[in-house]
Amino acid sequence: TVIQWYPGHMNKAKNQIQARLKLVDIVLEIRDARLPQSSRNPLLDQIIGNKPKIIILNKSDLADPKITQQWQAYYHRRQQPIVVIDAQHQAHLPMILTAIQERLATKITKYQASGVKNYTIRAMCLGIPNVGKSTILNKLAGKKIAVTGNRPGVTKNQNWIHTSHYLDVLDTPGVLWPKIDDQEVAIKLALSGAIKDSLLSSLDLANFAWGFWVQYYPQILEARYHLSATELNPNLNLMFEKITATNEAAGDIDQQARQIVQAVRQGSWGRFTLDRVTAND
Ligand code: G4P
Repeated sequence: TVIQWYPGHMNKAKNQIQARLKLVDIVLEIRDARLPQSSRNPLLDQIIGNKPKIIILNKSDLADPKITQQWQAYYHRRQQPIVVIDAQHQAHLPMILTAIQERLATKITKYQASGVKNYTIRAMCLGIPNVGKSTILNKLAGKKIAVTGNRPGVTKNQNWIHTSHYLDVLDTPGVLWPKIDDQEVAIKLALSGAIKDSLLSSLDLANFAWGFWVQYYPQILEARYHLSATELNPNLNLMFEKITATNEAAGDIDQQARQIVQAVRQGSWGRFTLDRVTAND
């Protein structure tokens, strides 16, 4: 199915998130580290208003570490707390707690000053599908929990996940769709597997990927397709014949395009980040 973001859906999701926002001290906005911009919903900040927020760039194991550092610096410059994690690593989770502690330092100091020892900080996760919300909630719970309501606008009675520390997290994440009316954003989301089905053809995706890799990760293509630097052309159409010579890319052009998309999604083209910090940022 093609993801569509109707105003009705948006309003429903928005109302449900706002109702739950009242219960929490802080929002954890989960994004995909390969897409620090494209994997957000631009309306999120408007929805949460001035509720404190921490951005969690998840799936850092799949992203280009150099670019991840640039994004961290980008958000630091804006005084926006950001945590970079690979949710599959339990050891990364304490970073979330540290960030919450720093962001809510004033509140926590007040608790401590008034002698409250067993204070609780309440949080909720928000994000588009597939960024790892359920995985993070499971890790925070320390066990497998059934994360439901994992679609925009789905209600259910939420419970609190009590983590081993002072942090309680709602077990129902807030879900918003990405903004996919922009063709490039849609391509990036599809290439990283954030949206499974796409309005776009494999050929569009493969063309974009090829051009992107020629620009940013040419050595990967050179090694994988046995090409010299001078042979690399950003126009995939001009490359099909050459890359057919390598057995993995056999078949017709559509089949080759599908293989390229699959290789990118599987990580066979290496770690990558599709959103880039530009010089003016
Ligand atoms: P969601 O609740 O936000 O929709 O995301 P969910 O936790 O279901 O995670 C989506 C997929 O991403 C899962 O793969 C999950 O294992 C994987 N994932 C989550 N966090 C990380 C991470 O930090 N690094 C990596 N490499 N993967 C992560 P899946 O169940 O296999 O689903 P899929 O392969 O069908 O997408």
